[in-house]
Amino acid sequence: MKIAVIGTGYVGLVSGACFSEFGHTVTCVDKDISKIARIHRGVMPIYEPGLEDLVARNCKAERLFFTTDLKEAMKGAQAVFIAVGTPSRRGDGHADLQYVYAAVEELAAYIEDYTVIVTKSTVPVGTGAEIKKRLSALVDDSIFGVASNPEFLREGAAIEDFMRPDRVVVGVDCDKAQAVMQELYRPLFLSETPIVFTGRETAELSKYAANAFLATKISFINEIADMCEKVGADVQMVAKAIGLDNRIGGKFLHAGPGFGGSCFPKDTRALAKSAEAAGAPLRIVNAVIEVNENRKLAMADKVLTACSDDLKGKKIAVLGLTFKPNTDDMRESPSLDIIPALQAKGADIHAFDPKGMDEAENLLTDVTFHEDPYATLEGAEAVVIITEWNQFRALDFERMKDLMNNPVIVDLRNIYAGVDMAALGFTYSGIGR
Ligand code: UDX
Repeated sequence: MKIAVIGTGYVGLVSGACFSEFGHTVTCVDKDISKIARIHRGVMPIYEPGLEDLVARNCKAERLFFTTDLKEAMKGAQAVFIAVGTPSRRGDGHADLQYVYAAVEELAAYIEDYTVIVTKSTVPVGTGAEIKKRLSALVDDSIFGVASNPEFLREGAAIEDFMRPDRVVVGVDCDKAQAVMQELYRPLFLSETPIVFTGRETAELSKYAANAFLATKISFINEIADMCEKVGADVQMVAKAIGLDNRIGGKFLHAGPGFGGSCFPKDTRALAKSAEAAGAPLRIVNAVIEVNENRKLAMADKVLTACSDDLKGKKIAVLGLTFKPNTDDMRESPSLDIIPALQAKGADIHAFDPKGMDEAENLLTDVTFHEDPYATLEGAEAVVIITEWNQFRALDFERMKDLMNNPVIVDLRNIYAGVDMAALGFTYSGIGR
């Protein structure tokens, strides 16, 4: 089957490469000439484990193509995926759909035979209907269908999530579009992945509801962590104890500095906005957003407390800047709130991240970046772990102690055990323990 994917960002690139791995012929198209040129040279615009090989392999097999020419990409395509950005609109938190609608209006001219236009980007409920309305004004209704097929990809594990998903959700409003989508996902039918075919609005809302629910689990356990600190309980054991209940489940119950990334913050805001507009405000989601925003700033106070309530002129080492490990993505990372808050209290920030420093340099000011964790620690009054990269889990603690001015660890991801750290001579504070 031949398909086109518009947008070679995170979602478009991973989806396009994975569909080609299924055996489909995929052309990915992007307006950014330099990005396409780089991909042609084998340079990926994002860091995602396994992506470079996957792209190279499928390009070589002539199943995966990249172009800036939409007309060429759509030639013979039975499905066109829209995977452009849907950022938070500045000022009001609504999803900004200008790129989606621009793509729709542009692609209309190139629909020849029956084509399904599929939204892969996360779009608010009703966007599919609006796309259909706009397309109907430009081309005959009988030659296109509109489907919603939200992605549920975690950065850092996106290929695995695409190839072996818990489920696939497809929203359609006619049998013809459903048949095309069924054919597209046939390789997953064979591996018995549940494929939920439903209405378009239901599919659109399912994506937001899934992300909001996961974000709720995180804000919930983060508040429980705060309470644990007050009453002498251990949040990790609480998470374990409740997570063993199958109705709750153990995942997404790691307390930390708050959720970040390209999805949870933006999608919870957009969902809250559309719920309000629909006259069905979501009080729980609003609370989740508020808890998360306050949390990031509260993390800076934790560091202040660990440094005897004084950060003026003190060198603070930060390990980890990205919103989670195995990505170079800095979008809405807690580090972007925590570091400026520490600087406002007078701290001199030295930082290291295995993948995120190039991007971090554009987003943070007055930070000294280092090429390895140990250089970051030299002369530091405290070290703050913001992202749980594997390489921070097994640092040489003796060397750390020798390098630091004060052996103080503020572990915002609970990657170390407090008792072990105390035995090694560190003053340790974690989350909710
Ligand atoms: C998320 C969803 O998981 C994915 O299904 C969706 O399509 C896109 O958004 P992603 O943003 O890549 O994926 O990362 P995820 O692993 O979900 O983590 C999001 C944030 O929550 C990170 O900042 C992470 O550190 C935080 N988190 C996650 C916690 O603080 N505790 C947890 O238990 C889990």
